[in-house]
Amino acid sequence: MNDNGVILKAKDIEKSYRMGQIQLKVLKGINLNVRKGELVVVVGASGSGKSTLLHILGALDKPDKGRVSFNGKDINSQSNRQLNHFRNKTVGFVFQFYHLLDELNVLENVLLPTMAGKSIAGWFVCRKSAKKRAAELLDKFGLSGRTKHKPYQLSGGERQRVAMARALMNEPELLLADEPTGNLDSETGNGILNVLEQLNRDGQTIVMVTHDERIAGKARRVIKLVDGVIKPA
Ligand SMILES: Nc1ncnc2c1ncn2[C@@H]1O[C@H](COP(=O)(O)OP(=O)(O)OP(=O)(O)O)[C@@H](O)[C@H]1O
Ligand SMILES: [Mg+2]
Repeated sequence: MNDNGVILKAKDIEKSYRMGQIQLKVLKGINLNVRKGELVVVVGASGSGKSTLLHILGALDKPDKGRVSFNGKDINSQSNRQLNHFRNKTVGFVFQFYHLLDELNVLENVLLPTMAGKSIAGWFVCRKSAKKRAAELLDKFGLSGRTKHKPYQLSGGERQRVAMARALMNEPELLLADEPTGNLDSETGNGILNVLEQLNRDGQTIVMVTHDERIAGKARRVIKLVDGVIKPA
């Protein structure tokens, strides 16, 4: 973290997709600083590059130009091993369509990020405390009665709460949420937003993409993507 409390810094980010002969410039020079404890809401028309930006911020994708740094370290020049650590430990992702594994039950889905970062022996050592944390998170999100359910046996709101528990399992410094309410009715979506707002009040740094004008209206910091750059919202 630097002096201003900035933990995430995106500088001059450019990203294009090539489709045959056509090059589609999606991001044309994005500059963004996120301070520890902030809730940053990203808005913009469909196709404006919100998901692309979020994926780049979380090292799920690489920019063509520009740099993303986290706590002063350039994430794009890291080794695969360091990047895996960053994706698994430093950031947590919540997606519009949950991306839960249907073969695993709720508890197993939430445990997955912790298991994924461990050897068998390492998992053996920490499994008790991991299960305790997973159970606590599920309880916090009102899902203690659903731990043995498979994702397809849950409502949309419940699935998204499982996805949030999974994202928070490794206590990420940064939570990235891509339209976490986009697939939910407004009441259920409000429940998810309340959870996110509470997490932010408890200190969680969050960057969240949304289509929802009402959410954007309530947020303290909103950035808008227009024509590949950030316009004041
Ligand atoms: N892998 C890809 N290959 C080619 N084009 C892509 C790819 N991913 C995204 N695009 C294009 O880049 C543009 C930005 O996509 P992106 O998913 O970031 O938009 P978005 O702002 O998240 O939109 P939405 O609000 O609909 O989710 C779109 O026009 C899309 O078609
Ligand atoms: Mg999107």
